[in-house]
Amino acid sequence: MWGGRFAGGPDAIMEAINASIGFDKRLAPQDIEGSRAHAAMLAAVGILSDKDADAIREGLLTILSEIEAGEFTFSAALEDIHMNVEARLTELIGEPAKRLHTARSRNDQVATDFRLWVRAQCDEAEGLLEELLRALLAQAEAGADWVMPGFTHLQTAQPVTWGHHMMAYVEMVSRDLSRLRDARDRMNESPLGAAALAGTSFPIDRHATAEALGFDRPSANSLDAVSDRDFALEFLSVATISAMHLSRLAEELVIWSSAQFRFVTLSDRWSTGSSIMPQKRNPDAAELLRAKVGRIFGANVALLTVMKGLPLAYSKDMQEDKEQVFDAADNWLLSLRAMTGMVSDMSANREALRAAAASGFSTATDLADWLVRRLELPFREAHHVTGSLVAKAEAKGCDLPDLTLQEMQEVHAGITEEVFGVLTVEASVASRESYGGTAPAQVRAQIARWREVLG
Ligand code: ARG
Repeated sequence: MWGGRFAGGPDAIMEAINASIGFDKRLAPQDIEGSRAHAAMLAAVGILSDKDADAIREGLLTILSEIEAGEFTFSAALEDIHMNVEARLTELIGEPAKRLHTARSRNDQVATDFRLWVRAQCDEAEGLLEELLRALLAQAEAGADWVMPGFTHLQTAQPVTWGHHMMAYVEMVSRDLSRLRDARDRMNESPLGAAALAGTSFPIDRHATAEALGFDRPSANSLDAVSDRDFALEFLSVATISAMHLSRLAEELVIWSSAQFRFVTLSDRWSTGSSIMPQKRNPDAAELLRAKVGRIFGANVALLTVMKGLPLAYSKDMQEDKEQVFDAADNWLLSLRAMTGMVSDMSANREALRAAAASGFSTATDLADWLVRRLELPFREAHHVTGSLVAKAEAKGCDLPDLTLQEMQEVHAGITEEVFGVLTVEASVASRESYGGTAPAQVRAQIARWREVLG
């Protein structure tokens, strides 16, 4: 491609370090789409004849079907997908192929291809996040009033409902979705026509190519257009935060599916056995999801590190953007699919949830609140009285509702029979009716709101 200036070819190691075809062949559909739009625009403004543009556009479609059929021979000597496609086009249609690169550089070409690829991933991820939201909502709906322990420090805190816990993840995943949509909106500008870095002296129509490729507008600064990888970084940031959320839910599934908790049973489809221990049902998918965040987070840090300190405009460093994003996208999308599958298939064990909720003095706060409300104790004093009652129950080896009224009155004489009404886990969750609280009525209102949002 640059034989005019060069007398010798590259060293074999140079070729190995320089070639990106091994991975950027994934951009073939986007490269062909971009080149077809570019050729049509060149013809529309009179830079190419209609005949040449038609031959180019047809030839590119032939190449796409060759690639899809696995009949295309990729060459490392041709460095990357852009030159592989152009060389094959020249073989196929001859002279007109050599006119395609008019008013264009690989710098705006790769920026365009990659943006189109990342944008397509956003669209796929959007659908997957919505499916995960629906799966979580279905779980929340099924157990809107099932009582389970709520934890802080992974120590029993206060009873909550299964629906409330599932809806917490709905909130998290919906923020991921909103971040993804923001990122997609911002990335939807066309770099095509920025050429190498400075724009071009040809009378191109960047608005036309932008529109043909589904972009909202051409990017406004040609230097920025070829050197910007924010779109990839934003995608990785969204993926990182989402994968972090997935890892938290995955961790809960690992704990909850253990014999000690038995809060959920993962279906056979999402469990594995052991080659030696016949009783085992391992939550491998959840464990892998918990781990996938590592490589996704790593990709984010890696690309930020590639980009930091790069002078404008294009530098070859930027070729190192793609593998990180490919790997992170593949693993994030796979994780979303796996999580949706696990959540849809799992069954919560209502009895085990309730039994766990009722242990560990989970209604101690309700007792303290009752002392404040009915006996008008200052909260700090109520806290102290309740603490003494918990110590008494613990010494006796029972839970709070199992203490007799007399035992309670030994700690505070004002306590009456009525207190037993607030010591059940059902009464506890039903009482938490503050907006966003765990009362089933509140949870159902949130479920209804999300049902409407999701349509
Ligand atoms: N394969 C290159 C990349 O991924 C394409 C752009 C090459 N541009 C250049 N001036 N060498 O970044």
